[in-house]
Amino acid sequence: MDYQKIIEEIEEEIQPFIKEGKVADYIPALANSNINDFAMSIIELNGKQHSIGCSQKLFSIQSISKVFTFTIALKIYCKNLYKRVGYEPSGNPFNSLVQLEYEKGIPRNPFINAGAIVTTDALYSKHKSNTFYTILNFIKKQCGYAGIQANNEIYESELAHGFRNLSLINLMKSFGNIENNIDDVISTYFRQCSIMMNTQQLANSMLYLANHGINPLTKEVIVSAAQAKRINALMLTCGHYDASGDFAFHVGLPGKSGVGGGIVAIVPQKMAICVYSPGLNKEGNSLVGTKALELFTTKTKLSIF
Ligand code: DON
Repeated sequence: MDYQKIIEEIEEEIQPFIKEGKVADYIPALANSNINDFAMSIIELNGKQHSIGCSQKLFSIQSISKVFTFTIALKIYCKNLYKRVGYEPSGNPFNSLVQLEYEKGIPRNPFINAGAIVTTDALYSKHKSNTFYTILNFIKKQCGYAGIQANNEIYESELAHGFRNLSLINLMKSFGNIENNIDDVISTYFRQCSIMMNTQQLANSMLYLANHGINPLTKEVIVSAAQAKRINALMLTCGHYDASGDFAFHVGLPGKSGVGGGIVAIVPQKMAICVYSPGLNKEGNSLVGTKALELFTTKTKLSIF
């Protein structure tokens, strides 16, 4: 299949939808994103790459970082991690507080904000003040690019406006589900969200999830096959929050979005994909990114269903 030609067609076909999205502004530094930007990158298991659009442009990975932190935490804690964070869809927005109160501070899954904050707390218990560098080094290794960095302006901007996340972490602390100092954990979480990557780097860094947990290029075992299965399952059922059903319905791939405008998607045993378009839908996921992935699975018949 000529994937390059297919993504070139997609770039044309998504143009009418570009103005329908709205860039995230609850993190003020994200409000300056250019809504017209579009990029899509594919990497196949054999290392063949295909890209279109501004695939070298860096953007903050935001909630896509939750895939990396969940991977690292799963390696450390295995099944014990699920005592602190579940694996069911929440059916609620990514930053919702409602279930946390009556579910006693145990977040539904590691991809909503509450679950990701608990995951970062679990990493903090092991790595303390080296936690952010552990996350960053993991990402650098996976994407094969040592220059990956966090963006201080985006980090500071979220820190100054992160009232909702502070509510979540305080509520969880009151239930005993946060082990470390709140400021240490939340600042690590905001820093991981502000890591800057492009679509090519993000697609590369997810390749282990398309290959039973093994990086097919370096042959390194990142997680076990069973753990890779769980991560993919959670991306499918929870990766787009209360739009996860919609994403499965229209795209039909495990995927994870970020409010920076990126979405990563996995085609098991074939490839990893990353798409970028900063205009979001009402659930906070890239509107054109979702559309582009829908067009991709329609044209290639590579949906898992
Ligand atoms: O915690 C937040 O609200 C952001 N740093 C990340 C949220 C996010 O990316 C939601 N995804 N679509």
